[in-house]
Amino acid sequence: MRFSNPVFVALDTPDLSRALAVAQAVKPHVGGLKVGLEFLSALGPDGARRIAEVGLPLFADTKFHDIPNTVAGAARATAMLGAAMFNVHASGGEAMMRAAAEAIADIHPRPLLIAVTVLTSLDDGVLTSVGQQGSAAAQVERLAILAKKSGLDGVVCSAHELAIVRKACGPDFVTVVPGIRLAGGDLADQRRVMTPSQARAAGADVLVVGRPITAAPDPAAAARAIAQELAGTGT
Ligand code: C5P
Repeated sequence: MRFSNPVFVALDTPDLSRALAVAQAVKPHVGGLKVGLEFLSALGPDGARRIAEVGLPLFADTKFHDIPNTVAGAARATAMLGAAMFNVHASGGEAMMRAAAEAIADIHPRPLLIAVTVLTSLDDGVLTSVGQQGSAAAQVERLAILAKKSGLDGVVCSAHELAIVRKACGPDFVTVVPGIRLAGGDLADQRRVMTPSQARAAGADVLVVGRPITAAPDPAAAARAIAQELAGTGT
């Protein structure tokens, strides 16, 4: 476990003022902040630097998936932003992942490079419809092993695949888990979900939480409630 508080809040908004306000409000209760494609497309690296200035570890959820040369350049640019962690799609293949890892090897401090396995919004039915044979769990295992072999630090997976990833890749491989929902909460577009304490008990290193905090009437109170739920588990 590399972060004392495992909760990273997903600031999925094109509005910098809104993102900064949520970031400041939740800061006492969370371990990090995440900016993804919506934020980065609207606000770019300057926006990401403003979020980094809040003073928590920044996860740049870049989800790169392109030819190795292009991903290597994008990886280096992202590492220069000061992100603590960023990611590429494992389905881009071994050469692409290796190119990304090599591109950031000499950057200090080097961010964690994580591979997205299977999005938590996809279930077995969706995977079949895009030509993926076998279960989500089998695909996550295959891609996690490939990511480790390619020199990456960990994977994004759902809480349901944590045990498989730990068994295949060992205790030091970082696991980043979105699809976190409070008991009885709105699933929205997520499918393979778990509560914060269930995911933590299952061994997640980082919990990515978006709308359960950012769409709550009081984001700070929602973040505090999650922190308290996690503390109550003793994990
Ligand atoms: O609002 P919610 O809690 O569903 O947000 C989850 C966040 O995690 C989003 O920012 C989404 O882009 C991200 N994510 C995901 N599944 C992955 C990787 C990242 O949901 N496999």
